[in-house]
Amino acid sequence: MIANEQTLDPENWGEMKLLGHKMVDDMMDYLAGLRERPAWKQAPSDSTEAIRVALPLEPEGFDATYENFKKNVLPYPNGNIHPRFWGWVQGTGTPYAMLADMLASGMNPHMAGFNQAPAVVEETVMDWLKEMMGFSKESSGLLTSGGTMANLIGLAVARHHQTNFDFRKDGFQGETVSKMTVYTSSETHKWAKESMELLGFGNKFLRIIEVDQKYQINTDKLISKIKEDRANGFTPICLIGNCGTVNTGAIDPLDKLAEIAAAENIWLHVDGAFGALAYLSKEHSHLVKGLEKVDSVAFDLHKWMYLPFEAGCILVRKEGAQESTFSSDASYLKPSGRGVCAGPLKFSDLGIELTRGFKALKVWMSLKAHGANKFGQLIGQNIEQCRYLANLVEKSKHLQLMAPVSLNVVCFRFEKSGLDEKDLDYINNGILLRLQEQGIAVPSGTRIEGKFVLRVANVNHRTIRDDFDFLVQQVENLGFILFSELGKG
Ligand SMILES: Cc1ncc(COP(=O)(O)O)c(C=O)c1O
Repeated sequence: MIANEQTLDPENWGEMKLLGHKMVDDMMDYLAGLRERPAWKQAPSDSTEAIRVALPLEPEGFDATYENFKKNVLPYPNGNIHPRFWGWVQGTGTPYAMLADMLASGMNPHMAGFNQAPAVVEETVMDWLKEMMGFSKESSGLLTSGGTMANLIGLAVARHHQTNFDFRKDGFQGETVSKMTVYTSSETHKWAKESMELLGFGNKFLRIIEVDQKYQINTDKLISKIKEDRANGFTPICLIGNCGTVNTGAIDPLDKLAEIAAAENIWLHVDGAFGALAYLSKEHSHLVKGLEKVDSVAFDLHKWMYLPFEAGCILVRKEGAQESTFSSDASYLKPSGRGVCAGPLKFSDLGIELTRGFKALKVWMSLKAHGANKFGQLIGQNIEQCRYLANLVEKSKHLQLMAPVSLNVVCFRFEKSGLDEKDLDYINNGILLRLQEQGIAVPSGTRIEGKFVLRVANVNHRTIRDDFDFLVQQVENLGFILFSELGKG
């Protein structure tokens, strides 16, 4: 090394080790003490100002920078790791997978594929996930950043597989006129519309089908829309089913959808971002019956397998369909038969990302350390906790269940006679914000048939039933406070 050659490695490895140990100690204390902290806390301006500083051109040092993080960043997350966080559908992470992420980041392998042990880890993880979800070894799959990306890939495979011309070459601009349509329910997550736009279909070709009282797709309306489209010269290519809708956790009748897809010769993709994982719970897998018949399914390990962000997954049943959609023959990535690039880049050939991180490690280590059964048990626990909450709501004189509880989502609101819909929206929105701002709990809100409701989506391995007793008590208290503030009593 000549005198002025530099590196980002520490000059003193001993000091870096000590700092690393301190970070691990601090994080473990932080995680162990979560229940004593507020579920959410607004970051004070002192902290945000300390974060948003001018670009530091000169070193501030490892220790000082870490102390800054500890003071200004660590205490103010969005709350999702807290035992009383049930907002949107997020996920909690685990201490062990956090450590695995540290190892993955330290090792920092390039996960396009390559001839390396980490690739064997990822292949093994994919085999396990296929087995856990009832897919054969011949099917394919990929870890993705999340559900949106996994669903996007599923839809891209459907498009490639269902076209009778070379879509990769001609796209929508070749000689073949292609008026392709895709079908899904009005409850489907926004990824579907975005993916239709991104994949060049145009979002008006996503046919939105009404739902019934259980928020499941109306299959009669679906069939008649497919027939109408065919009669008008469209080519229906894909049906997107839901296994756990974002609003209410509703599960479309997957058996029936599989029957329709087979009869119409269209691809059945299922968005099972969280719900598909109910398949892992022995006691509750019947709720997602039909999953074994779908062509592709997307789900998030960072939601209902509790792993830290990011970890999504797409599985595609038909052998080769995913690879033929994405594989590339770039000369600079050609396999050399031996050495680091001995074979094809297995993972980048199954999706659109080339550089990928080693997220497989946290999955591999977590499944080994906890055992796959544990995840099924926790998922079952969350479903039972939601039934418990629904029961508390039904027993309360002041709360009303606003949608059927199919899985792990409970939608409810505070009600009081004499209040109109505007007042009820005002009170329930107020309850939600006070729950969050007072650090009591973090549900989120949504609208069900135009009515504002509190929504609890439970993918939290830290929650215990007492948390729901507390939630119900607090919602009622806040409801009465807001009611009296309204002055209509
Ligand atoms: C049903 C459903 N689909 C898709 C997504 C998107 O997943 P991600 O946020 O991992 O991209 C979500 C996220 O909450 C979801 O609930």
